[in-house]
Amino acid sequence: MRHLLTIEGMSREELEDFLDLADEFLEVLDRPIPKVPTLRGATVATMFFEPSTRTRLSFERAARALSADVLTFAPATSSVTKGESLKDTALTLRAMGADLMVVRHSATGAAHRVAQWVDVPVVNAGDGAHQHPTQAILDSLTLRRHFGKLDGLHVGIVGDIRHSRVARSGLQAFSTLGARVTLIAPPTLLPLDMTGWPVEVAHDFDDVLADLDVVYLLRIQQERGGATGFTSLPEYVRRFGLDDARFARLRPEAVVMHPGPMNRGVEISPHVADSSRTLILDQVRNGVAARMAVLFRLLASPGEGT
Ligand code: CP
Repeated sequence: MRHLLTIEGMSREELEDFLDLADEFLEVLDRPIPKVPTLRGATVATMFFEPSTRTRLSFERAARALSADVLTFAPATSSVTKGESLKDTALTLRAMGADLMVVRHSATGAAHRVAQWVDVPVVNAGDGAHQHPTQAILDSLTLRRHFGKLDGLHVGIVGDIRHSRVARSGLQAFSTLGARVTLIAPPTLLPLDMTGWPVEVAHDFDDVLADLDVVYLLRIQQERGGATGFTSLPEYVRRFGLDDARFARLRPEAVVMHPGPMNRGVEISPHVADSSRTLILDQVRNGVAARMAVLFRLLASPGEGT
């Protein structure tokens, strides 16, 4: 694999390779000195043109845990403010010695374009509402570690599916790994075209709630127009929020996930957010190992051990 730009088309074998590697890296992260020399001498550039807490910092933590150097690019304090293009920014970081670029951008396809311009691996850390492949890998890892396997799990992805790259990547990964996926949203927050998507659709959260093993909540993507998909926030919360009453009706073994950032009191109640039945901080922890697996697979020799 030269780049990681999308989950679409990825085989079960390729996904499981990332999960197996990530399991090994979780063991590394548990060591007193959580670091291996695997990528010593390599430089990972993080280019985030949209805000991020989890993805950028976990890529940087992952790179350092593999002994790589990190080049952090921040657009607000860069020459992008003077009109420099994405292409010239990427070529500049490459000329400084970046051996891999992690790209987040509001435009669909931005990471694909960077991959055409530079001669090093590119990882898509989120492009518009299109794809967020490492989120899907870390979420699959979290589910596999919790349940042992994804085969037969019923995953309900709830909320602003239309504007969600997390949903698009996640549903493909979960389905490839054997889960049944139901998208739960009003029609106005679903994509107009879902031809070929391996999903079922429900418009009433309460109808499917008690059948779910996993409730995967999404925030409303205000920055992409998500708030235009319903008439009022209280109505959205009443119909699609995981409040305490709905939480009490979940199966006892069901878990709650969220990619973050959460909006407490909107898609998730504060009580649910703090419950021991959420895997939200496990997702964050597993994200570092998942990103170590991705950096390793793209920068070290394929098939090499840790
Ligand atoms: N899940 C996720 O992409 O979070 P950040 O926006 O904080 O990176």
